[in-house]
Amino acid sequence: MADRGLSRGLTDYGDRGFSLYLRHAFAKSMGFSDAMLERPIVGIATAGGGFNNCHRLTPELVTAVSRGVLGAGGLPLEFPTISLGEPFLTPTSLVFRNLMAMDVEEMIRAQPMDAVVLIGGCDKTVPAQLMGALSAGKPAISLVVGPMMTGSFEGVRLGACTDCRAWWARYRAGELSDERIGEVESNLATTAGTCAVMGTASTMACVTEALGMSLPGAATPPAVHAERLRVAEATGARAVALAAENLTPDRIVTRASVENALRVLLAIGGSTNAIIHLTAIAGRLGITLTLAHLNEISATTPVLVNLKPVGDHYMEHFHAAGGVGALLRELAPLLQLDAATVAGETLGERLSHVPAYVGRDVIRSAAEPLVERDALVALFGNLAPNGAILKAAAADARLMEHEGRAVVFTSLADMSARIDEPDLDVEPDDVLVLQNAGPIGAGMPEAGYLPIPKKLLARGVRDMLRISDARMSGTAYGAVVLHVSPEAAIGGPLAAVRTGDRIRMSLRDKRLDLLLPDAEIADRLREFARTPAPSRGYAKLYNEHILGAERGCDFDFLMMDPSVGPASETSGAGTV
Ligand code: FES
Repeated sequence: MADRGLSRGLTDYGDRGFSLYLRHAFAKSMGFSDAMLERPIVGIATAGGGFNNCHRLTPELVTAVSRGVLGAGGLPLEFPTISLGEPFLTPTSLVFRNLMAMDVEEMIRAQPMDAVVLIGGCDKTVPAQLMGALSAGKPAISLVVGPMMTGSFEGVRLGACTDCRAWWARYRAGELSDERIGEVESNLATTAGTCAVMGTASTMACVTEALGMSLPGAATPPAVHAERLRVAEATGARAVALAAENLTPDRIVTRASVENALRVLLAIGGSTNAIIHLTAIAGRLGITLTLAHLNEISATTPVLVNLKPVGDHYMEHFHAAGGVGALLRELAPLLQLDAATVAGETLGERLSHVPAYVGRDVIRSAAEPLVERDALVALFGNLAPNGAILKAAAADARLMEHEGRAVVFTSLADMSARIDEPDLDVEPDDVLVLQNAGPIGAGMPEAGYLPIPKKLLARGVRDMLRISDARMSGTAYGAVVLHVSPEAAIGGPLAAVRTGDRIRMSLRDKRLDLLLPDAEIADRLREFARTPAPSRGYAKLYNEHILGAERGCDFDFLMMDPSVGPASETSGAGTV
């Protein structure tokens, strides 16, 4: 029997015939006929569970994928992996992305499947699945669960989670009663699916389609839309063909497709988190994505999609306006059209049959962009030798060339204890700095969107320059500099900043500087002492092997290039 389907990767008892006989016996205990067990096997990796609201309709998708697999002559076998529900994890979901990637990789490799469908959606699940599948090397295709529909409050449309933040800021400013913020809370996330704006989940869905790892049109149908189920059925059918063609992901995810995906990330005004994820995904195949390259591509890519948090609309509108296909066609002159896709055609071939309708309220033409260039940029300087990220498209333009006095918080706990103190010494032109919130410091939480101090909110201040080594939710907005690297917790220059220092940021020059002599910064850092590392378990593994944000926060030993070292050993080396 050929080494495929159930005979693939036998359990080792030292007797191949016995292994196969035993596997068949147990497979038959699930009620499968011999004919069914002869079919190619499509694994369906699921990441649902009671702690993941976004993946609530996974069972429906499994049914639809299975229908597609069976119809195309395969045998669908579902298997669970870790689920990462964004709001339900502590300290952050990013800490567990690599754990999920390892789970996905090992289970794809260990179990007898000829191809795999990856059903994910909530922020970290899609990158984790792609990272794992790329490393496992079997034919794979992604299926996202789809975005939520919007709700409404007092006639105003609401969608998680840009509106969560806007309404919470109004509540903090005293404009909303407890009762009314409670009603907002009940209407922010009203269906299954991922956040309704261009947050990390939506960004990764679009990036995955642009990478060629999901079917054309797979990114945008809402979770509760019938089209979502039709895409699922088609994905299952295509997975059977992928198995027959042995079309492995390394033939799809190439430098060309990664650059196409980066163009799309920028053109949708996507999440800063996706830069980390795309870097990690590419790294699994030895493709290096540097922050300098991000700036080159950002300088020539317009923002065309008018979705929150950069614009006005929601994912359901992007879908109705033509989705990723319409966007790709608008971007075509900037794309590498010979890139392969999981559908078996090149990107160029795909774009030759995208429907003509485009909703111009939502998807602008290249001639009339929402933002001309530089939606997301990397900044460098003595405060971020390895780089930092700024989502310029979602910030107050007034703050893009700014110098101000630092107001420093040394940790998340410090910030939460003092940010709203009435006697906090802070003015609107100051620069809020948060230290020790990077990958090692705190698991890199989405805390880079530091709250505006209450006393300034009351004065009408809605944006300030904020700097940290943390991340920011893709649904957030503001003059927020993130991912400062090397991070403070391993002795990066961010650790040297003290309240009263002056900081200058320039979008024009792509600079972020602490206005102190280098010798003074070095002197201050001489006093730096790293906190003790965890002594056991996953926390120990994480602490010893996590790479910096500019390298995708992957574990050094999981990247394709084994010469990379852990962040603690390579800080300052940079990759730009
Ligand atoms: Fe899952 Fe936002 S909480 S995508």
